[in-house]
Amino acid sequence: MSATKPADQDVLRTAAEAATWAPSVHNSQPWRFEIHDESLDVFADDTRWLHAIDPTGREMHISCGAAIFFARLALRGLSRRLEVSLLPDTANPAHLARLTVVAVEDPTTEETDLIRAIPVRYTDRGRFDDEALPVDLVTALMAGVGDYGAWLRPVTSEDDAIATAVLLAHADDTEQVDPAYVAELQRWSRYDAGATDGIPRQAVSDVPVGERASMYRLRDFDVDGRARSGTTGRVDSPPAAEHPFVCILGTPGDDTRSWLEAGMALGWLLLRATSAGVVAQPMTQPVEVPAARIRLSQALGLVGHPQMVLRMGHGSGQPTTHRRAPGTVIDLD
Ligand SMILES: Cc1cc2nc3c(=O)[nH]c(=O)nc-3n(C[C@H](O)[C@H](O)[C@H](O)COP(=O)(O)O)c2cc1C
Repeated sequence: MSATKPADQDVLRTAAEAATWAPSVHNSQPWRFEIHDESLDVFADDTRWLHAIDPTGREMHISCGAAIFFARLALRGLSRRLEVSLLPDTANPAHLARLTVVAVEDPTTEETDLIRAIPVRYTDRGRFDDEALPVDLVTALMAGVGDYGAWLRPVTSEDDAIATAVLLAHADDTEQVDPAYVAELQRWSRYDAGATDGIPRQAVSDVPVGERASMYRLRDFDVDGRARSGTTGRVDSPPAAEHPFVCILGTPGDDTRSWLEAGMALGWLLLRATSAGVVAQPMTQPVEVPAARIRLSQALGLVGHPQMVLRMGHGSGQPTTHRRAPGTVIDLD
């Protein structure tokens, strides 16, 4: 590392590569990066916008917000201090962020822990054990998302849990009967283990969602029934009930900036959880169906707008998805 030259293209490129490991809806990776002398610019790639599940582009922006957070963190890991400007170009709404390197400065211990979590983090669609999340971790997660303008609401009371579960099932039913939703999910399903985008077979749980002993309906990624075919009909004894920690990530506003902030908060939340040995799976169906989203806010008395619903816990999986080659998403000046 050069102590005299805060920004150079190698540093910015390394950060952009780290950003590609952010989570994104259906692993669509709806982003593009441009490297300039002193800055890394992040753009939305709306050719990868999932119009059926995400007609407003909200989840595309949340995904990009997570990538912005990962890029920012990676630059901190390379001992760069930076300024982050969201939506810097009013004439170009696809220009989501400019990360400008302003100085050399060592990362904090927490930042170093989060950086280590980037290659380890993954979406876990398997069973979580019943060990409760440590109270101090939940407290830290609730406080930490505030740094990005978001809030986190654990779903703890029985009434809140039932309302969330009912709205999740209702939203999931609504999506499952929408041919455009199903066709889009099929388009983003991958059967080649080396696929560089989309949801690969190995990321889909082999336990059919309908056979899980859980009040929370997970999204059914088994679009062709291949994962399901191995297990249906051989359930000898009922599986033990799952009791994941469920929470809602939200923001005071519901515009493009709020979605980016929700994505940055999501990026932080997932890495902070990973560094504490905790895995997560988004269950975003109720925030995708407008009526369910409104009713979720009303039922739980949320102040602001729910952006993500997540289950968290202790899992036993590992990363399973891949990313497109850096050269296809990173442009040098
Ligand atoms: C906005 C958003 C919504 C998501 N919704 C779901 C969901 O409802 N169910 C699910 O299993 N995963 C969901 N995911 C996780 C993505 O499918 C996952 O991040 C992507 O496939 C990449 O895999 P990885 O997280 O293991 O790296 C969502 C992610 C984002 C950013």
